Amino acid sequence: MTKQEISRAQRETVNVLLEENRVFVPSDAFQQQAIIHDESIYAEAAKDREAFWGKWAGELDWFKKWDKVLDWQLPFAQWFVGGKLNASYNCLDRHLKKGLGNKTAIFWEGEPGETKRLTYNDIYCAVNKLANGLKGLGVIKGDRVAIYMPMIPETIFAMLACARIGAVHTVVFGGFSADSLKERIKDAQAKFLITADGGYRKGKVLALKETADQAVVECPTIEHVLVVRRTGQDVLMRQGRDLWYHELVDKAADYCEPEPMDAEDMLYILYTSGTTGKPKGIVHTTGGYLTGVAATTRWVFDIKPEDIFWCTADVGWVTGHSYIVYGPMAHAVTQVMYEGSPDYPQRDRFWKIVEKYKVTIFYTAPTAIRTFMRWGTQWPQGCNLSSLRLLGSVGEPINPEAWVWYHQHIGHGQCPIVDTWWQTETGSILISPIPGVTVLKPGSATKPLPGIEAVVLTQEGKIVEKGGGYLALKSPWPSMLRGIYGDNERYKKTYWSRWPGMYFPGDGAKIDADGYFWLLGRVDDIMLVAGHNISTMEVESALVDHPSVAESAVVGITDEIKGQAIAAFVILKEGHKPDSQADETLKGHVAKKIGAIARPQKIIFTAELPKTRSGKIMRRLLRDIAEGRALGDVTTLADTHVIEVLKEKYQEEA
Ligand code: WT7
Repeated sequence: MTKQEISRAQRETVNVLLEENRVFVPSDAFQQQAIIHDESIYAEAAKDREAFWGKWAGELDWFKKWDKVLDWQLPFAQWFVGGKLNASYNCLDRHLKKGLGNKTAIFWEGEPGETKRLTYNDIYCAVNKLANGLKGLGVIKGDRVAIYMPMIPETIFAMLACARIGAVHTVVFGGFSADSLKERIKDAQAKFLITADGGYRKGKVLALKETADQAVVECPTIEHVLVVRRTGQDVLMRQGRDLWYHELVDKAADYCEPEPMDAEDMLYILYTSGTTGKPKGIVHTTGGYLTGVAATTRWVFDIKPEDIFWCTADVGWVTGHSYIVYGPMAHAVTQVMYEGSPDYPQRDRFWKIVEKYKVTIFYTAPTAIRTFMRWGTQWPQGCNLSSLRLLGSVGEPINPEAWVWYHQHIGHGQCPIVDTWWQTETGSILISPIPGVTVLKPGSATKPLPGIEAVVLTQEGKIVEKGGGYLALKSPWPSMLRGIYGDNERYKKTYWSRWPGMYFPGDGAKIDADGYFWLLGRVDDIMLVAGHNISTMEVESALVDHPSVAESAVVGITDEIKGQAIAAFVILKEGHKPDSQADETLKGHVAKKIGAIARPQKIIFTAELPKTRSGKIMRRLLRDIAEGRALGDVTTLADTHVIEVLKEKYQEEA
């Protein structure tokens, strides 16, 4: 549906409420100023996709131009074959050359309230010094460097310094436990770890270095641990292994030549949950990834030189990689970076920040929006949010109620909302409105971006014109994952085995009569908790790791705030009591093993679990029980009695 097709009458009401079909038309004023204000971009991409992507790759600075746009040996893609470039050069040097060195890159705010303003010059200096420091310690092109940090500027320096010398960064979210960090370091065989003494979150200090120490004990590949002084808390520095960041960079030289990287050289590995428990190391390379994030930053966020952008994600997730670091910085964007939580010291912290820095574009997650809804409108109302002109959402489907609330109470009824669908694997946004062009429907991510061929399929692989099915991608795109680190078989099996030649992201979707996509969430055993993928297996293995647990089955249940919450069915070993103390102990145990984000909301003690004859746990039934629904088909169940007992038991507890 295009703007032109919406009748004049509808346009005048702007936000037309038509039962199932609420639409929001971009205002003429927004459209006129937008970078992309004309839908011809879709046709241009469809006409010759490779030429189209080549044009957008050309917006980057290349040391050597590519010979060929795409080499596609299903399921292995190479983009911009033969091209040479450097990501840190594209995010820094080229801006300095254009005289943008004094432009603010980051307005940083720590949770306790201290602030820093960093220009592109400042970041350039910090990155060059750190790059030299790392080189001096023996880090070379291709080495993996793990980064376990709070939301401070040094985290960005670390990523860009790695990119500068051709080292592969693997950022591990600072909320992950020692075990999770260890597992990722081991899988990536990282040689180096960059961390901080601690960080601030909800008024408390996270003991990052202490956690890192526990992880590193069992990681023989780690040669050095570099520690940023953030909180000043006491930490143990192991002689010979641990070094202070400030001491290293103080001594380092000011300029480090950026390594000319092949377009297909690895830029980073980022771990995401998988059904078999072991996290998957998603591999992204340099040229295609940068092309994808840089192009979508312009199309979707419409960022111009004077904008103040704020993406509230943690740098530890792909959203932070693509839309804090590489996308915005490739365009010399000015952005806000905030270390802490939205309710510290009060529930208006985000809105205070928007007001203070006059944020114009704000990108957050539905789970946060639902939390703000619960806290009440008095918090945003107390702040001046009139600087905002565009809002974004990512991480899970945004329910129409939350969309409308976000639009009214944060976007003062004026800001378009871009609901952006993508994944760690896709590298950049694939399904999203282009705000100056697309007519919005609350709850729909609208349409595939130019150059992206998404479809909805039946189980058998037939294209669904209208109705529900599985989301799939018909052709490769520049920022797509290049594989799972060290495991090509798993890569093929996970993403490319469902239908011939099609990428399967694992999401269900519905397509409506206007060709709009409505994402329906995961179809497998991955839960989506507060916008993050957590596998049921990971939580199950954390539970059975506790000495009192014999067996467990975990399901994601609908949660108003987080999208999904975790419910765990647990069979205790002989001699252990299923009381409230056990409940607390096990919840705490999971949080310690994986991180607070995986803490189960409910534990349901049971004597048996419903299994199929082949011994597979029937999660669907557990979900029905945990959500209090009528049970679905039970014919494949080995022992139907189990489920009756469980149901009664659960109802007692609920
Ligand atoms: C999964 C990817 C993309 C960065 C954050 C999460 C879900 C993401 C949307 C959206 C509906 C969404 C999907 C996807 N998802 N954005 N706008 N609408 N669902 O990255 O951890 O790799 O998770 O998040 O289920 O597959 P991730």
